[in-house]
Amino acid sequence: MKELNIELKNNPYKIIVENGLLDNVGKYISDVYKGNKIFIITDDIVEKLYLKKVINSLGGYNVDYVVIPHGEESKTLKYYVYVCEELLKKDVRRNNLLIALGGGVIGDLTGFVAASLYRGIPYIGIPTSLLSQMDSSIGGKTAIDFYNRKNILGAFKQPLRVLIDPLTLNTLDDREFNNGMGELIKHGAIGNKKLLDLLLDKPKINEDIIVESLSVKKKVVELDEFDTGERMSLNFGHTFGHIIEMKYGYKHGEAVAIGMLMALKMGIDLGVTPADCYPTIKKILELYNLPTVEYDYKEYLKETFYDKKNIAGTINFIFLSELGKYTIYKLTEEEIKEKL
Ligand SMILES: NC(=O)c1ccc[n+]([C@@H]2O[C@H](COP(=O)([O-])OP(=O)(O)OC[C@H]3O[C@@H](n4cnc5c(N)ncnc54)[C@H](O)[C@@H]3O)[C@@H](O)[C@H]2O)c1
Ligand SMILES: [Zn+2]
Repeated sequence: MKELNIELKNNPYKIIVENGLLDNVGKYISDVYKGNKIFIITDDIVEKLYLKKVINSLGGYNVDYVVIPHGEESKTLKYYVYVCEELLKKDVRRNNLLIALGGGVIGDLTGFVAASLYRGIPYIGIPTSLLSQMDSSIGGKTAIDFYNRKNILGAFKQPLRVLIDPLTLNTLDDREFNNGMGELIKHGAIGNKKLLDLLLDKPKINEDIIVESLSVKKKVVELDEFDTGERMSLNFGHTFGHIIEMKYGYKHGEAVAIGMLMALKMGIDLGVTPADCYPTIKKILELYNLPTVEYDYKEYLKETFYDKKNIAGTINFIFLSELGKYTIYKLTEEEIKEKL
């Protein structure tokens, strides 16, 4: 069993990572939740795989649940309303506990319900996809998509606790797994050289790797709970990645893999990134079957200025200053024309 403490002034909480944890959920929530009623929110795929197991591990509690269809289409107003209605029909009270059992979609939606219903209900995350275990389950960002825009309606709401069972990764299909790997490798690139060294041996993703990856996000979240500065570092590979994702239909984590390679090339050309960072990151991406197609970043620079992160004509690019360290580099459109 491994533990990480997210040290936030008003909302500190613990993340527990343990193989087989799903059989012991009750044990790991009893010290943070003194009530009896629990509502689990999950999707139809995770329901079939793990709901029974989790309910069985909650002996002594009064447990009910709401199931929604899987996929990003459920992170919408329609399912926000559905979940709230179902909970109210089941007589949810503001001091009951919600559990988000599933991937990032369930985590983001449940978190937003927990942030808004009764102006706030406690919730616990049990992330089951790789992406949600090493990324979206911590940091307190909750949201739904609206008006054709991702994560546009949301709130910051930290969970009471996060419980991670790496054994759930065994049922994840390859593409969903890779999706998480893109962000996991990104965490190593921006904040944890040790994680990169471990990945070079291509280990099976286990408790240790998840904790190393989470430790990067933990640091950033502790420095910047409300996303006004340091959290920007998590966008490494995303400025180009988003463009590639939209244009060629890659999954998010795959596009981040390609976007990181583009950012590495640009950093090298600007003299910010040492040249040997590129082959190391590329090798790790290849080891985990992520795409490493080379797109010329110069052809996409113009589009970066339409990015939502464009503030008054300046883009904050995230580059590596060495493996495991990032730097924020501001560039205006004019400077880009001059330098590149
Ligand atoms: N809040 C944040 O900080 C944050 C950060 C990154 C991403 N996100 C959000 O996370 C979402 C993506 O998360 P995701 O990739 O987990 O998507 P997801 O929740 O859709 O899960 C992917 C698929 O895997 C299935 N699944 C989940 N666990 C499984 C398991 N153990 N075995 C088999 N199948 C399983 C799900 O049913 C789903 O079909 C996006 O909406 C994104 O915006 C949020
Ligand atoms: Zn991302």
